[in-house]
Amino acid sequence: MKYKKIGDVLILDNNYSNDDYEELSKKHNVKTIMKIDHIQGTKREPVYKILYGSETETINKENGCLFKLDLAKVMWSKGNNNERLRIAKLVQDGETVIDMFAGIGYFSIPIGVHSNAKQVYAIEINPNSYNFLCDNIKLNKLDNITPILGDCKVETPKLKADRILMGYVKTTHHYLNVAIDSLNEGGVLHYHETVPEKLIETRPLERIVAQAGDRDVELLKITKIKKYAPGVEHVVIDACIY
Ligand SMILES: C[S@@+](CC[C@H](N)C(=O)[O-])C[C@H]1O[C@@H](n2cnc3c(N)ncnc32)[C@H](O)[C@@H]1O
Repeated sequence: MKYKKIGDVLILDNNYSNDDYEELSKKHNVKTIMKIDHIQGTKREPVYKILYGSETETINKENGCLFKLDLAKVMWSKGNNNERLRIAKLVQDGETVIDMFAGIGYFSIPIGVHSNAKQVYAIEINPNSYNFLCDNIKLNKLDNITPILGDCKVETPKLKADRILMGYVKTTHHYLNVAIDSLNEGGVLHYHETVPEKLIETRPLERIVAQAGDRDVELLKITKIKKYAPGVEHVVIDACIY
């Protein structure tokens, strides 16, 4: 694909060249055209270039949810679209959910819109993302999401959640002990990891088991989300912890 449209902003692939940005903006009915070189750091901030227009804040509609965001400040991963809806549909009536790496509400908002969760605690460390998370809770008229600004290592509520989302990659395993401590007996963990293809069936589960201590771990599902790098996949492990 040469481009993706997020709200009324067009993001071009880095190797896509086109000189007539004005024509491209009319063709796709967008106000701004950008290239995002990469997403950097713990707070997942974009390194970008604006090619046409200037306004980078937009509202993206996906799976019946509204996501307000500024593409110069926070990330949007189109490749995670199916996963965002899959998780929302797994949530059962009355569940208490913790979203440890909530961003602008990538998972929390679809859960609020598509399920009857009792309460969702959404923790986010990046103040820009947190502010959009708060806006998105209001925009989608949700009253069962509690946004929390800070490091989930410290801020994860010490309660017995039915489901915990760990939608972050690279060092997610460092947070497994905190997640498992707040997960009810029989609760479900959705643990993300970027993993070399030949380790998909072993390393993520071994890491969960190592942090679960005496508690039993049942592997429910491994879902491949997208290619992360050559030979490396972004996967999510669904595991029940007893
Ligand atoms: C961008 S999301 C991942 C994308 C998401 N899975 C999707 O579907 O598009 C990860 C978020 O975790 C946040 N984050 C990173 N470390 C954190 C921490 N220790 N505590 C809370 N949030 C954190 C980042 O700021 C980022 O907003």
